[in-house]
Amino acid sequence: MLSLSLTGLKLKNPLMLAAGIMGTTGGSLKRMAEGGAGAVVTKSIGVGPKSGHSNPSMVEVDCGYLNAMGLPNPSYKNFQGEIDMAKEGRVPVIASIFGAGADEFSEIAGSLRADAFELNVSCPHACGYGAQVGSDPNLVEEITKAVKSATNTPVWVKLTPNVTDIKSIGLAAQRGGADAVVAINTVRAMAIDIESGYPILGNKFGGLSGRAIKPVAIKCVYDLYETLDIPVIGVGGISDWKDAVEFIMAGAKAVQIGSAVGNNINIFNDISSCMQAFLKEKQWTMKDIYGMAHKK
Ligand code: FUM
Repeated sequence: MLSLSLTGLKLKNPLMLAAGIMGTTGGSLKRMAEGGAGAVVTKSIGVGPKSGHSNPSMVEVDCGYLNAMGLPNPSYKNFQGEIDMAKEGRVPVIASIFGAGADEFSEIAGSLRADAFELNVSCPHACGYGAQVGSDPNLVEEITKAVKSATNTPVWVKLTPNVTDIKSIGLAAQRGGADAVVAINTVRAMAIDIESGYPILGNKFGGLSGRAIKPVAIKCVYDLYETLDIPVIGVGGISDWKDAVEFIMAGAKAVQIGSAVGNNINIFNDISSCMQAFLKEKQWTMKDIYGMAHKK
């Protein structure tokens, strides 16, 4: 009832683990797959090992989480084993990758074996990476094109909401040959400790995820669905089945769940059973609700 084909991948449901949470080891990715995720996305992986920003790198705020991890990772050269172990969960494993430019992205995509690549051109707090390259439509097109030439696997491009017009970046990814876009990464944000007067995060500012950003993400998905010919994958503040349905009605072909996994490790199974009950009660199919908010 919930199964779908997404950029050539077969998914048993449209609910994926988002990049950045439970995605550093093959064991945790496999556990998420066994917990009902339709696909899992790894933590973002780069060319060389990186220790990331200094602590605190993640704090809970009223309406979600603020993080400035700084893309810590062991390098793609030390990561194939984790992807291979994650594959034991028997769902597609998507490698989230980042680089400073087209050469680094294509070096990784030409070497790692995964079911798809998600290009992180959207991390809001990594100097020289992420949104610093992903806010320029020309660079996004060039990077996407380079990765498409380096691999035969599907290429998804994860977009930043921290731009004036996310549609122009989505169009650039599409021109570069992206198979899908993923919207959105975190929203640039900060918090200050009033006892000391200092910013709380080691990096001073970071990215906000969780419930607060859901309406921002819904609007981005809605606009991208109207603008692009390729599928949009929705992410940002999904906490329960109603949020997932809302994203699909906005035009998301599938969704990713990040922050909420921290509170409920069974969230994928919980959401898929509630979604099925909802569709049954309404006598709707996934096809009926996909992009429903656009139908006149
Ligand atoms: O720093 C990080 O690892 C987070 C990346 C992101 O927000 O894309």
